[in-house]
Amino acid sequence: MKKAVITGVTGQDGSFLAEFLLEKGYEVHGIIRRASTDYRERIAHLEGRPHFHLHYGDLADSIGITQVVFSVKPDEIYNLAAQSHVQVSFDSPEYTANVDATGVLRILEAVRACGLEKICRIYQASTSELYGRVEAVPQDENTPFHPYSPYAVAKQYGYWIVREYRDAYNMFCCNGILFNHESERRGETFVTRKITLAAARIKQGKQDKLYLGNLGSLRDWGYAKDYVECMWLMLQQDTPDDYVIATGEQHSVREFCQLAFHEAGIELEFKGEGLHEQGIDKATGKVLVEVSPDFYRPTDVVNLWGNPAKAKRQLGWNPSKTSFKELVKIMVQADMAKVAVERAGEKVRVNLEEYLEKGIVK
Ligand code: NAP
Ligand code: GDD
Repeated sequence: MKKAVITGVTGQDGSFLAEFLLEKGYEVHGIIRRASTDYRERIAHLEGRPHFHLHYGDLADSIGITQVVFSVKPDEIYNLAAQSHVQVSFDSPEYTANVDATGVLRILEAVRACGLEKICRIYQASTSELYGRVEAVPQDENTPFHPYSPYAVAKQYGYWIVREYRDAYNMFCCNGILFNHESERRGETFVTRKITLAAARIKQGKQDKLYLGNLGSLRDWGYAKDYVECMWLMLQQDTPDDYVIATGEQHSVREFCQLAFHEAGIELEFKGEGLHEQGIDKATGKVLVEVSPDFYRPTDVVNLWGNPAKAKRQLGWNPSKTSFKELVKIMVQADMAKVAVERAGEKVRVNLEEYLEKGIVK
């Protein structure tokens, strides 16, 4: 039985990857952070499974990380842990560098310190944000990097230290340069999930308006569940290499918004420009989407579009498994159900309070 360590197992990708590897017959060891509120919603369904184990650890703490690597002696490490929010990296640049840059070094050094450098294969979660202020479209493995946020600058260190350890110590380590990938498990402050949740809430009367930043920003959005397969495929090759993972299709935030509201049963049309642009409900004339400068970034990456030809050719990966339309549908349907359940819960609470007051139940 192969053993894998996943850092960032409580995140969107970590939870899908843990499911994927358990399905493949792996013993999976996830690293989680201690917090006063135990946020394990995405992996709650895996806890208690015979081959799923959790260890406390933090990428900022090399002793803890080395102890986990020493006790598990993994065949594969998937380094997914990161301060992954680009906007937050402007508020916490030092912390972001500590985790997203030096954290990668800590993983590589832990493997060397445990004498596993010839055995253990490592996947590093690199990112399309490295292309930043893009110098060419679409982007592939040979496109120059131009990181354009503290997050991307930190991730650039991670990318290069992985390549350095591959050359210097002959370690099997790979960078997956993944373009944006989303799902029903996406964090609620990333733009896609913010939109699908808002569409569901507005449709069900729980929210009036959605405030967004740059509506013209372009992304290559795929489905996270499809992308974790590539992480595994990279580590099953004969030689380590770096790969762009993307769909090869590009859409704007505005387009995502229109489609998500359509899936929720609201037809939106956009009018105006810049800060004055609005998304209007065609049926009622109500303004449902507005632009707020609060969601603008000091520097924004606005033109990401990946070319997954190498991954298709060498990994045999299918970038069109889940279409853009299907992705939006999956996310909106999940959020429509989530909001409906929340509303039902509220109703039960209200009824219960009323019954208690009237003495119908004690
Ligand atoms: P995510 O949902 O934000 O998950 C991040 C994970 O990292 C969480 O499990 C988080 O733990 C953990 N983490 C954060 N700081 C940590 C620390 N100091 N020590 C240990 N764990 C820590 O991110 P994701 O979307 O799954 O992305 C996974 C990785 O891929 C990240 O490295 C991200 O930068 C990269 N990436 C993502 C995309 C994308 O579109 N999703 C694209 C390219 C690259 P808590 O739950 O405790 O916060
Ligand atoms: N979050 C957010 N919130 N973004 C907004 C909003 C808003 O209200 N309005 C417009 N945007 C724009 C952002 O300015 C950005 O250009 C784009 O929508 C996407 O933003 P995010 O969804 O926050 O994702 P990201 O592309 O910055 O970063 C994600 O993808 C990277 C890969 O390219 C993260 O998952 C990173 O961890 C990942 O590396």
